[in-house]
Amino acid sequence: MKIGCPTEIKPQEFRVGLTPNAAQEAIGQGHQALVQKGAGIGAGFSDEDYIAAGAVMIDTAEEIFATADMIVKVKEPQAVERKMLREDQLLFTYLHLAPDPDQTNDLIASGCTAIAYETVTDNHGGLPLLAPMSEVAGRLAPQVGSWTLQKANGGRGVLMGGVPGVGPAKVVVIGGGVVGTHAAKIAAGMGADVTVLDRSIPRLRYLDDVFGGTFKNQYSTAGATAELIQEADMVIGAVLIPGAAAPKLISRAQLSTMKPGAALVDVAIDQGGCFETSKATTHADPVYEVDGIMHYCVANMPGAVARTSTIALGNATLPFMLALANKGWRQACTDDPHLLNGLNVHAGKLTYSAVGKALGIDVTSPQLALMAA
Ligand SMILES: NC(=O)c1ccc[n+]([C@@H]2O[C@H](COP(=O)([O-])OP(=O)(O)OC[C@H]3O[C@@H](n4cnc5c(N)ncnc54)[C@H](O)[C@@H]3O)[C@@H](O)[C@H]2O)c1
Repeated sequence: MKIGCPTEIKPQEFRVGLTPNAAQEAIGQGHQALVQKGAGIGAGFSDEDYIAAGAVMIDTAEEIFATADMIVKVKEPQAVERKMLREDQLLFTYLHLAPDPDQTNDLIASGCTAIAYETVTDNHGGLPLLAPMSEVAGRLAPQVGSWTLQKANGGRGVLMGGVPGVGPAKVVVIGGGVVGTHAAKIAAGMGADVTVLDRSIPRLRYLDDVFGGTFKNQYSTAGATAELIQEADMVIGAVLIPGAAAPKLISRAQLSTMKPGAALVDVAIDQGGCFETSKATTHADPVYEVDGIMHYCVANMPGAVARTSTIALGNATLPFMLALANKGWRQACTDDPHLLNGLNVHAGKLTYSAVGKALGIDVTSPQLALMAA
């Protein structure tokens, strides 16, 4: 297969869909990697890195879209890219179609076969191509929160780990899933006194078994949250109710009960945020203040560490990409129902029911799409 990787063109996107190592693996299995010149620069990969891996560097995205059998990307194709998709082409990338009717209609009209990273599943009920970005955002949260806590950045002037004779920062993490667990690990590693709140008892059991000596956990109620935030230097919002907007777990009125200069890091901002006073910010201007409390609410946190994020995403997508290249999408999806769950669009039809429901578009089952000639 000819695997094409264009440069990402969405503003503020520095990641790249194919790392040199992934390209080398694909080439080793008999495929060709066509990479747009400069595609890896934002993630710290030079054209020479790709050439050393055996890739062919291509001048323009147009040439890549015109020749590749499979396009591998990070972000959903932008309008200008969607116009270049071909009927017989496979697209493997994040799509997030439910809130995006324009993109959905364009993909359907293109006739391409589109597999969305975010709906590929695994045996444990997880989303293996979304998890790496949650891991990154979770691990980044205490790092940006500790910066926010510094006096010059508007914070309380508290050091995460304290020093001998001075106690550590108190960190409350609301939501103990992928983001919350990674946030808690890093905050505890920085020496903070960490408590994780979750509403799932099996999850609390897991956290207690695995991290019992590292951080505390507590069942999440409005009362427990109200009590803990009064003492907190930092609160990290990491809740998710699948398919729903994030619940508002700290009200504006509650900010006055917190310590002035405390930091709220709302990782759940991409689902609307879990604090009443959260509004999405960018890496260029990430922090703002409300009633004396500092808010960090960047919606695409992994973009801050584009190199780590690119490699983490590339590791997770590689086995699926190789299966698609080696077997073709039909056989790969027949062999792996989790990959089939990623199928969102095929031959002019939507194949993902939740997107159809959200946008009022008729859906063909992925199994039917597989069987169609
Ligand atoms: N800002 C970013 O750049 C960025 C990056 C990655 C993920 N995210 C977001 O972070 C959020 C968390 O993602 P995740 O992968 O950890 O999800 P997850 O499903 O692994 O974990 C969510 C956890 O929240 C818990 N929860 C639900 N309601 C709760 C409540 N009222 N109180 C306490 N806990 C509650 C669930 O039991 C679950 O354990 C999502 O909104 C996700 O979209 C944001």
